Amino acid sequence: MLKNIIKFREMGDDQGWLVALEAEHNVPFPVRRVYYIYGTRPGVHRGRHAHRKLRQVAVCLNGACTILLDDGRQREEVRLTGNTEGLVLDPMIWHEMYDFSPGCVLIVLADDWYDEADYIRDYALFKELCR
Ligand code: TYD
Repeated sequence: MLKNIIKFREMGDDQGWLVALEAEHNVPFPVRRVYYIYGTRPGVHRGRHAHRKLRQVAVCLNGACTILLDDGRQREEVRLTGNTEGLVLDPMIWHEMYDFSPGCVLIVLADDWYDEADYIRDYALFKELCR
């Protein structure tokens, strides 16, 4: 199974809810970068790449989206809906994001800064590197 979900503890009180993400505690690496995806237009398909070394955790803060995971041998679709669930995106996992609901906000924590050289954007090359 490619799906690796971290369940975050919700701290609720009479004010509402709060979730804390802590590097090297409930997020399993030191965090160097956080980015978020929002305002995704209907029908858009994002991602379509793998990373050579980068480790990430994706959390859908609002709405829902589907993330396809592919390790070169098997593929699995995960519907991310809850803001208390983090999907681990390990290195060498091809991933694609689609079926964004209106208002979907996807936040991603990453263990390194942005580096285009870490991307594999060619699926044929990804399959080759998986062998
Ligand atoms: P990209 O990773 O290709 O988005 P997606 O795979 O979700 O479609 O990034 C889109 C653009 O944003 C691309 O030009 C690179 C840039 N970018 C940064 O500058 N910093 C970042 O941290 C990320 C994730 C992307």
